Amino acid sequence: MYVCVCKGITDQHIREEIEAGARHLKDIVNRLNLARDCAQCVEAAREIFDSAYQSFQDALCVDAMAPNPAAA
Ligand code: FES
Repeated sequence: MYVCVCKGITDQHIREEIEAGARHLKDIVNRLNLARDCAQCVEAAREIFDSAYQSFQDALCVDAMAPNPAAA
């Protein structure tokens, strides 16, 4: 789904940037030039970023709580 039509940025691009180290919406803005034209996309981008970042953190917690086979 397109989030920023002006720059052709999708929700998948935002998820990929989080995987690559983005930790704040401003990281996405700086890396992809999100919202640098009309800025109509800011609120949608913020909602998608927050949701995707929460999912990313939840996945990290699940991984951290998984049994360590090397310790068995
Ligand atoms: S839709 Fe993102 S800058 Fe226009």
